[in-house]
Amino acid sequence: MNTTDEEQAITPETSGGVHDSIRAIQWLDNRLCLLDQRCLPFEERYQYPVDVTEVAGSIRDMVVRGAPAIGITAAYGVVLAARDRYAQSPDGWLGLLAEDIRMLASARPTAVNLSWALRRMERCCATIAGDPAGELLNEARRIHTEDLAANRRMGEHGAALIPAGDSVLTYCNTGSLATGGYGTALGVIRSAWRAGALNRVFAGETRPWLQGARLTAWELTRDRIPVTLITDNAAAYLMQTRQVQWVILGSDRVTANGDVINKIGTYNLAISCRHHGVRFMVVAPCSTLDFTLNDGQAVEIEERPADEVLNLAGRRIAAEGATAWNPAFDMTPASLVDYLVTENGVIQAPDRQKLAALKSLSP
Ligand code: MRU
Repeated sequence: MNTTDEEQAITPETSGGVHDSIRAIQWLDNRLCLLDQRCLPFEERYQYPVDVTEVAGSIRDMVVRGAPAIGITAAYGVVLAARDRYAQSPDGWLGLLAEDIRMLASARPTAVNLSWALRRMERCCATIAGDPAGELLNEARRIHTEDLAANRRMGEHGAALIPAGDSVLTYCNTGSLATGGYGTALGVIRSAWRAGALNRVFAGETRPWLQGARLTAWELTRDRIPVTLITDNAAAYLMQTRQVQWVILGSDRVTANGDVINKIGTYNLAISCRHHGVRFMVVAPCSTLDFTLNDGQAVEIEERPADEVLNLAGRRIAAEGATAWNPAFDMTPASLVDYLVTENGVIQAPDRQKLAALKSLSP
């Protein structure tokens, strides 16, 4: 398992004003290397999960997060799992691997990119005779590089919609940290910024994990794109005072009718956008589209521990005795979405027919 041209392609771009210097997932010296996002923005610490159990733990515990990023990580997790299973049983590795794939799939339930990447790895497994590690590593790298390429295409498609001088609000973290690199919604913002189209970029804090304050603000400032943070509950007022013309965010799953599952609070933003005439853009690669589900009601929404709401930075902030409900995602009906940007094109006012037409264009 040596360095290949594909690995070279996953490196950041720091020159030529590209503004894209961060990679959260790398395969280095035969090891998976994850930037531990729980430590940001204060510390750049890396984790090297040694086996599939540790990879599943890294996904579950938010070392790595963001829909495309957890799919890519799981694909590399299959490489580690297959390597161990083949050493254990050269004839029976494929059967043993099924349990590992189940463990990865259940690490987080909402982002469809996870099961999408695992299905691709399973399909690759079925074609392999002999030691699977090399071919599976190549497939994982393809998933990784294809995601990066898709993000760059979405960046161009999305940026082309934004008139010069507009300002945007983004939410959660949809950047290099959440993907193979460049980002989905943050990729559009990167491209629009590079084109000189953006006046201001606002980011919502994104309680309770503060992906906006900790991660998006870190990514943007590192890549020299000025960012203004707002509390999540300032968003409607930001719109009412006409300081943004766009909300641009990502998705963990888009169902066949165009419903969008994304970070809890996305639905609030979509309602506020419609009320104030602010355009609502969802940026998601085709690996996030789930044509097996009719609509968003059918998606399992991850509920995370109450402690994440009751505590902040390891310290209790809620009154003793209070409990908390902590859904990690919500569902925005397709009717509130103005644009769905994918690498295969842009859909205005997405619905079932338009998504089906896009699907027929996909390889
Ligand atoms: O809980 P997280 O941090 O994994 O949630 C991430 C999001 O909701 C992102 O908006 C989504 O995955 C799209 S990222 C490209």
